[in-house]
Amino acid sequence: MQPNQLSSKEINPLGSLDEWEDDLLQRYPDPETIATAKATEAYRNYEEPARDTVREFYKLNHTYQTYAFVCEKREQYLAFDKKEMAVWDAFEFLNQLVDDSDPDTDLDQFQHLLQTSEAIRRDGHPDWMVLTGLMHDMGKVLCLFGEPQWAVVGDTFPVGCAYSDKIIYPEFFKDNPDFNDERYNTKYGIYEPNCGLKNVHMSWGHDEYIYQMMKDHLPEEGLYMLRYHSFYSWHREGAYDHLLDDHDREMLKWVKLFNPYDLYSKSPEPPDWKVLKPYYTALIEKFLPKTLKF
Ligand SMILES: [Fe+2]
Ligand SMILES: [Fe+2]
Repeated sequence: MQPNQLSSKEINPLGSLDEWEDDLLQRYPDPETIATAKATEAYRNYEEPARDTVREFYKLNHTYQTYAFVCEKREQYLAFDKKEMAVWDAFEFLNQLVDDSDPDTDLDQFQHLLQTSEAIRRDGHPDWMVLTGLMHDMGKVLCLFGEPQWAVVGDTFPVGCAYSDKIIYPEFFKDNPDFNDERYNTKYGIYEPNCGLKNVHMSWGHDEYIYQMMKDHLPEEGLYMLRYHSFYSWHREGAYDHLLDDHDREMLKWVKLFNPYDLYSKSPEPPDWKVLKPYYTALIEKFLPKTLKF
């Protein structure tokens, strides 16, 4: 069945994009922060129906993220001819993605970005990393351009070669046409051994999109954080070593450094935006152009 023959709940099974992120917190609970308000709450509220929607979501993601699909989306979005916005307007645009299912507990998208960047700043990391935190999920605007959840969020993975069994729900790949396509289902598929991730097409989603948007504006370490922050089978599970080059191995530590700020910085108390605004205005001016192209 094609995705467009499905009902809207079948296309977008998650009540909100946060359900995927809450599931990540279940998968990778950080022992240091497990006792915080948010982590405890996430555990308490975590019920089977949420787990089922995450399963449904991954079934779609793993079935439809083919090499051909990725090439098509790259062509469609990497022209950046959809929209042009000032950075602050882009945050407002992103915030149109509201959580219908759970409006009182979850913070909006911008709060997650700001909490991530503030946690990075508090730990004294360089300003480019603070900005990386602030921008890292901007690619979720893909949902507002009509993309289904499975083409925006979820763990990312290489396409064009065999899927690792370290990817969450690996059994769902059996319905992906590439799984039985001999061009794509061998260990290396279309790639050369240790060709480097720069030569590897990742499943399409908000990571690649924001990386491409930011690639002329942030240092290499920050770009790795953006591009691979959802590539859990690599940065958490150590898969795909056979595709890496030495540069990727060097950069992995930066991706790992970023991940806890993304996963564990959620707090029910929003930062005081009035106090923070001058700092972030200057930060954005330092690194980014006046407008961003989407
Ligand atoms: Fe993300
Ligand atoms: Fe995030």
